[in-house]
Amino acid sequence: MDFRNPNVTYTTQLDMPAAMLWKLLQDFGCWIKWSPLFSKMTLQESRKTQMSDPTYIRDVETIFGHYYREELVLRDSSSFLINYRQIKAERSSPLVDRYETQFQIHVVDATHCSITWKSNIALVHNAPAGALEQVLARQKTFFKKTTSAAVTHLYIQTYSKSALNFLTEKTLEIESALLVGNAAAQYEYDEYELPLPKMCKGLPLKEALAPKKIGMMVQRVLELGYLQAAKFLLEDSEPIKGKFDYEGAARKLASTYGNDREKDLTAALLKNWDTDEEFCQQYLQGVNPLQIEVIRDSQQIPAKMRSLTIKDFGTKTKTVQDLISEKRLFLVDYKDLENFHLHNHLYFYAPIFVMYKELLEDGDTRLNVFAIQVERTPNAPIFTPQSPHKNRYRLAKMFVACADIQVHQFGLHLGISHLGNEPVAVAVNRKLPEGHALRALLLPHFKDTIGINFGARLALVTNPEQAFTNNTFAVGTAQGKQLASIYWQKFDFFGWSFPKELEARGFTRDGKDGLSGYFYRDDGFKLWDAFGNYAQNFVYRHYKTDQDVANDKDLQAFCYDLSAKEFGNYPGFPTQILTKDFLCEVLQIIIWNGSALHSYLNYPQWPYVGLIHNRHNALYKPMPAEDGNDVPDEYIDEALAPTFGALFQLTFCWLLSCLDEDETLIHLKSLKHIYPDIDNKFQLELAEITQQVSKRNERLLAEGKTPYVFLMPENVANSCNI
Ligand SMILES: [Fe+2]
Repeated sequence: MDFRNPNVTYTTQLDMPAAMLWKLLQDFGCWIKWSPLFSKMTLQESRKTQMSDPTYIRDVETIFGHYYREELVLRDSSSFLINYRQIKAERSSPLVDRYETQFQIHVVDATHCSITWKSNIALVHNAPAGALEQVLARQKTFFKKTTSAAVTHLYIQTYSKSALNFLTEKTLEIESALLVGNAAAQYEYDEYELPLPKMCKGLPLKEALAPKKIGMMVQRVLELGYLQAAKFLLEDSEPIKGKFDYEGAARKLASTYGNDREKDLTAALLKNWDTDEEFCQQYLQGVNPLQIEVIRDSQQIPAKMRSLTIKDFGTKTKTVQDLISEKRLFLVDYKDLENFHLHNHLYFYAPIFVMYKELLEDGDTRLNVFAIQVERTPNAPIFTPQSPHKNRYRLAKMFVACADIQVHQFGLHLGISHLGNEPVAVAVNRKLPEGHALRALLLPHFKDTIGINFGARLALVTNPEQAFTNNTFAVGTAQGKQLASIYWQKFDFFGWSFPKELEARGFTRDGKDGLSGYFYRDDGFKLWDAFGNYAQNFVYRHYKTDQDVANDKDLQAFCYDLSAKEFGNYPGFPTQILTKDFLCEVLQIIIWNGSALHSYLNYPQWPYVGLIHNRHNALYKPMPAEDGNDVPDEYIDEALAPTFGALFQLTFCWLLSCLDEDETLIHLKSLKHIYPDIDNKFQLELAEITQQVSKRNERLLAEGKTPYVFLMPENVANSCNI
């Protein structure tokens, strides 16, 4: 049959190597293994003569009740081509007289291919008018769906298998580490080759992750795997055309498996992720609320930005100096990335991003984009919302979001929060004995921290080149570790307390910084105060006088252990605590760091990192040099994560944002055996916070804004444990 004039064709591009697809499709009689279009498929092999090659014939029954007998005419592995044709059989479609089909896979490059399907279909002479169109449309759908099914199967096979293998491997490593030698591990300190927090040597028996925890992690990975598999069956969509359906995946995942918080926030983000206002607001209530600072001096911003102006209500011009004196200019500076090198054809920069507080006519205010400088060269272009080239402006925002992920994930989430809590966990276990009230108070804030960090070390730190983050995060794992070290070298126990860290960036609890909508700050102070009251109630009940505190040998041993260079070496931690008030202050910080610090950095990963348009683990194209023209839409598409990178980002943040709802502050009963009334008082205060924040969130919803939920007590995990 002649394929130069087929009466139906279908071509699509795919984000996978040609050989990978060929390996699946060449097996003519086995398509039923991966395509849900078939309800039956049997293969026969026959030879016309003893000398001839075997002929393959398959009998096929589709889920639509159609029956075909098809013969393989040609299979050419060198050009990835197959021809097959229908053979008359008893139960064949009464309309179709004969057909022949060909598909061929073409190499685009090492990781992309295209497939072209063609058929020539002839109907029986008495077929009714219009029948051919119907049959051709059906055939085209068959091509599309078969391609989709093949692609889905291959993704599941490679991606889900490797994700599950990874989890299984890590679980086994943890288990075997426990069995061979670490059962004897006794909470000793160990150190990294870089300046990082001290770690726990080995994995003490009590720190092994519970089956429930492992089960929750596996569940999150499988949820994504199931959706990928179901995608083809549930949606009559085009197959994946070299690009992942970022929005569809986030929507489907949240709506199918998410809790109410995940569903609502995903829906809100999908509506407005691409606006400048949302881009800025995420610095106040997104995954990294620690990057924004008040600009006090025009020297803090690049020279080329200093002459820019904005117009209040579109009329009154405001200069940089005006905005600074009105406390309306804010900086996000990724200078920590400046000396890092590019890696694995992934792109990132060390951008400088300036926002301003926009006054709205109804009296409300919001943050908006003032200017972005992506590169750190003297003549680097400045991008503003007025930039004539919209795609270049969008790329500039994307590089800001990409830089933010690097510092958030490696510097803050891993460095300060996960690794930073570990020496405290070790010291509590080493120096506060069973039965000590301080141990009862503190231990719940370190549940699973050592176990999770042990897993993270195996996955990330031990062999950076082979770590799964190496090809998916722009800076790569080794530089990520360096970034954690840079952040740790800035860390100080008191300097990094919740209010001091805010103060260092120019924000105060009295709101004199003038910034509204900084919900991390507002809700944070509520929780911070509750922790302070809780610590005070405990300390003032347990110790009658300052002398009692000074005489508590276990407490003093704990301080010495955590602060001494040869042990915990914890920056700024006091070597002794001699008064009740000082102990309250220290406990307030330890409890905040063990719980809230990790929660507000970790759980907003869903939805904010889950939508690949919104935050980028890596970008796959550089910022193109200025040539007087905008870049085409395709360039933006190519800069975004390809399927495997997108699936990794989605899996990683879906997995990590899984909150164990039984282990949040509202279930905390640390003092139940000694001072249950103090626990109760704390719970009453938390309930009051919940009420206040819920009311505020209802108001935000009524105004069409996104609520902030990540410091609500029910969403704050007691410890850094995922
Ligand atoms: Fe985490």
